[in-house]
Amino acid sequence: MVEKTNDFWKDSWEQHWSSYLSTPPHQGPCLELLFPNKSWSILEMAGGTMRDSAYLAGTGRTVTGSDYLPEAAARARETHKAAMEIITLDAFQTGLQPDAFDITYHNGLWVLFSKDEDIRKMAAEQARITRKYMVATVHCAHNQKYKDDFRERATSDDLYNLRFFEIDEVRAFCEPYGQTLVLPCGSPLTYQLVGGWRWGRLPRALRRWLYIHAGPRTSPAEWHRIMVVTHLG
Ligand SMILES: C[S@@+](CC[C@H](N)C(=O)[O-])C[C@H]1O[C@@H](n2cnc3c(N)ncnc32)[C@H](O)[C@@H]1O
Repeated sequence: MVEKTNDFWKDSWEQHWSSYLSTPPHQGPCLELLFPNKSWSILEMAGGTMRDSAYLAGTGRTVTGSDYLPEAAARARETHKAAMEIITLDAFQTGLQPDAFDITYHNGLWVLFSKDEDIRKMAAEQARITRKYMVATVHCAHNQKYKDDFRERATSDDLYNLRFFEIDEVRAFCEPYGQTLVLPCGSPLTYQLVGGWRWGRLPRALRRWLYIHAGPRTSPAEWHRIMVVTHLG
């Protein structure tokens, strides 16, 4: 896996910003379903385009978007205008007060790091600044088709050259901080539950119940992402 530098991200966002934004957010709707309490404060780390933060802000939640790259934060501010506060923040050392946010999450951050030690450092910092729930979303190693697709794309674009995780592996990084639940994000079930499809019309409380109880029992071979939710003790 190649290390992705600031210059890599500057070039990559130049190329991919519009296409990312034209893809509907999926992490945001999963978090909306899981956390119905709109008064909780939310921080997205390594948010890039911050499309999921924008979605959550649109539901009336108080969201702060962040990325360590000032250029990404500036682009996101320009894109989303006054929808939310956007800050520059390094996931290894945020500089925030302990328990600064009720919920913190990221999608596609830990997959950039091959060393377990780096993930452990980021998990510790995330736990420190989180009051209620920390959420880590990574690419799912159990889905061979998804992995092969990324391997093929990585031959021409290093954006797709990243680490895939197994469930037990990613769970182990989070469990030291509290009770941990593993859910799909981007799977046949979640597309049904959070999209406007057949099940999308079921009452929200029922969809939430199905997500929490049936989600972990579905086959990870069909998940795109693994979402690990830790309740801080
Ligand atoms: C794959 S992108 C995330 C995409 C995002 N989920 C979206 O929907 O647009 C990864 C992001 O992580 C950021 N990043 C890399 N290292 C970071 C760090 N140490 N702290 C915070 N952000 C970081 C990069 O600048 C990049 O914007």
